[in-house]
Amino acid sequence: MTANAPIKHLLGIKGLSASHIQTIFETADNFKSLLNGPVKKTPALRDITIANLFFENSTRTRVSFELAEKRLGADIVNFSSSSSSVKKGETLIDTVNNILSMKVDMVVMRHPAPGACVFLSKHIDAQIVNAGDGTHEHPTQALLDAYSIREQYGDVAGKKVVIVGDILHSRVALSNIYCLQLLGAEVMVCGPATLIPKHIAALGVKVSHNLDEALNWCDVANMLRIQLERQDQRYFPSLKEYSRLYGLTMDRLAQLDKEICVMHPGPINRGVEISSEVADSDQSIILQQVENGVAVRMAVLFLLGQQRL
Ligand code: CP
Repeated sequence: MTANAPIKHLLGIKGLSASHIQTIFETADNFKSLLNGPVKKTPALRDITIANLFFENSTRTRVSFELAEKRLGADIVNFSSSSSSVKKGETLIDTVNNILSMKVDMVVMRHPAPGACVFLSKHIDAQIVNAGDGTHEHPTQALLDAYSIREQYGDVAGKKVVIVGDILHSRVALSNIYCLQLLGAEVMVCGPATLIPKHIAALGVKVSHNLDEALNWCDVANMLRIQLERQDQRYFPSLKEYSRLYGLTMDRLAQLDKEICVMHPGPINRGVEISSEVADSDQSIILQQVENGVAVRMAVLFLLGQQRL
């Protein structure tokens, strides 16, 4: 893809250029100002109807997209597979086509199958935004993470970011690696060897199995949850041992000769990958990430809806 090639869908960070991301960030800056002002809405997408199709559980992403859509004045319809005819055997394409026949312009979809959004984009006319597809990508999470680093430091370029934990089952890790590298950051992944994909160094990331070494190297630590729901075998002896080796605690932060920034995409498992004290500390920007998610998703929806991305 060339730097300014227009895109119809947001299927992943793969497929975006640094220039696309800068456009999203600059647009998000404007929406963040709007959200912090007295009038939090704009009718920019008032002629657009968006369907939020969630085939997998979500709190942050679903609420954040819904708020972003409402702030942009779009008409929205929410669909959750747990209360739908998917339970009666309907296929993904039949479900989506039935919803689209009610004149829907854009689909925001979360699905447990990697590639589900790419598959759908080949079969329907509506624009698609990937809200997380299995272990593959979670592009708006990576965008809001990088936007939050930019807000914290002024720039993402040159920053050292370590992503810690269950890299093997994480869509957040892959999207973050692509996004941070496009913006000029250095990326390390850290965790037990069993939770790090074998050939991940081919993506140009550093690999460490020692959290203290990784923390000494980084400016930013992005702590990931152990995705027990995607694990079909035991990858480490016990959560207690995992927490001892890879849990971020105040003691670990205190041993550093610098102050690093702590991130987490949520949901947090307090006391496993991050202690409550760290999650609630001044070094944590976890709630700023959630706040920025609305502005970043407004930017993505606005730019796609106006065919400006
Ligand atoms: N970060 C994230 O995707 O959270 P949810 O699963 O709650 O949407």
